[in-house]
Amino acid sequence: MLKHSLLPVEEFTARRQTMLDAMPENSLAIISAAHEVTRSNDTEYPFCQNKNFYYLTGFNEPEAVLLLVKSTPQKSVLFCRDKDPEMEVWHGRRIGPELAKQEFGVDEALSIDELDDYAVDCFAQVSMVMCCFDDNDTMALATDWLAQVSAKSRIGKKAPVNLTNCAELIHELRLHKSEREIALMRKANVISGHAHQRAMKATAPDKFEYQIEAELLHEFAVNGARHAAYNSIVAGGDNANILHYTDNNEALIDGDLLLIDAGGELAGYAADITRTFPVSGKFSEPQKAIYQLVLDAQNAAIAAIEPGNTLASLNDLVCDMLTKGLYELGILTGDLTELIEEKACKQYFIHGLGHWLGLDVHDVGDYHANEKRQQLRPFTAGMVMTIEPGIYIPKGADVDEKWQGIGVRIEDNVLVTETGYENLTVSAPKSIAEIEALMSGVAKTV
Ligand code: GLY
Ligand code: MN
Ligand code: MN
Repeated sequence: MLKHSLLPVEEFTARRQTMLDAMPENSLAIISAAHEVTRSNDTEYPFCQNKNFYYLTGFNEPEAVLLLVKSTPQKSVLFCRDKDPEMEVWHGRRIGPELAKQEFGVDEALSIDELDDYAVDCFAQVSMVMCCFDDNDTMALATDWLAQVSAKSRIGKKAPVNLTNCAELIHELRLHKSEREIALMRKANVISGHAHQRAMKATAPDKFEYQIEAELLHEFAVNGARHAAYNSIVAGGDNANILHYTDNNEALIDGDLLLIDAGGELAGYAADITRTFPVSGKFSEPQKAIYQLVLDAQNAAIAAIEPGNTLASLNDLVCDMLTKGLYELGILTGDLTELIEEKACKQYFIHGLGHWLGLDVHDVGDYHANEKRQQLRPFTAGMVMTIEPGIYIPKGADVDEKWQGIGVRIEDNVLVTETGYENLTVSAPKSIAEIEALMSGVAKTV
């Protein structure tokens, strides 16, 4: 098992081989590690590896590059920092090329200092160079090496003639999860669901949002998900109507709802769960009405997940239900057929229904069915997505006062299986009865 990845080295060897198989003959792919990022003088943000690089290596240090060479012989070469006892005393252990070759299953591992010369030599032997075009560092390396090889044309070196984007190739691999990835995502979800339970139990009027955030972070970390997959959203009352609210610095008010969107990251894999519940532990009637509407729409969308269905059709289903529900509550007025036709709920449901989930919280993978990009792609087994409808009615909205300040989102993580779906978010309660029971202490865990 690789230390940071909780996956065996064979998983990464197989991914590199799949990538090499998909690359054209006589090509070379360059994938770079992430940089450390300064937080303030001499201190860095927690290191987060470039997810494409991580997917193909499981290697968790900065200053590293993977070359995948599809020529004869085909090879994977990892460049990383040398061992350096003095630096390691100050900043932590480095694996070094020798151990890296043994542990990470690459054909060769070399010092990062050798990268330039090695790459320029390789460039002279291939006709195509592949990089992720959205990665400025890798693009800079590639263009520098292209220039270096081109400058040697008089001594018989020939530069590659094609520079091609390999992001889509890697993204397609990442979109469909292996059994081992699914097991990690299941576990990330169980841990994160327990964190939501903990947050519900800890919530009380006058506590601060960041105190509830602390409960989440504690539960993630003690269970192996040391970092949150993204900055946790802990949004009391009207703050829930700010979609990516992360200030988390206000006191909770009796009678308000609390929206929490938070998930732990386990071995690089994200959970992305939202729950909305009453600060007091009891929903008011207007809160109940909006909450139940969102929940019914979410459950209907999840139940419709199966191979062949699309996010577009789920979105239509959810919009129909939300529009009808908002009309019945008197929040939308007019002709119901027309309201449904024009997806009138979008006034209050202001974001997409869901997104792919994996190593990135908004994971990679094309959403479209074809080059024309007019249709969304049909689901196939192994995809994992979020389903997260919401209704947001900020204070000051042009509706009856009783609805104002209500913001509800409910978000689960769902795997497409061969025959339907598996909801990975099993440990975060979401029915009104379950939430109220948990918060009143009647149920310890659900
Ligand atoms: N947590 C961000 C999102 O739900 O998309
Ligand atoms: Mn999400
Ligand atoms: Mn979320």
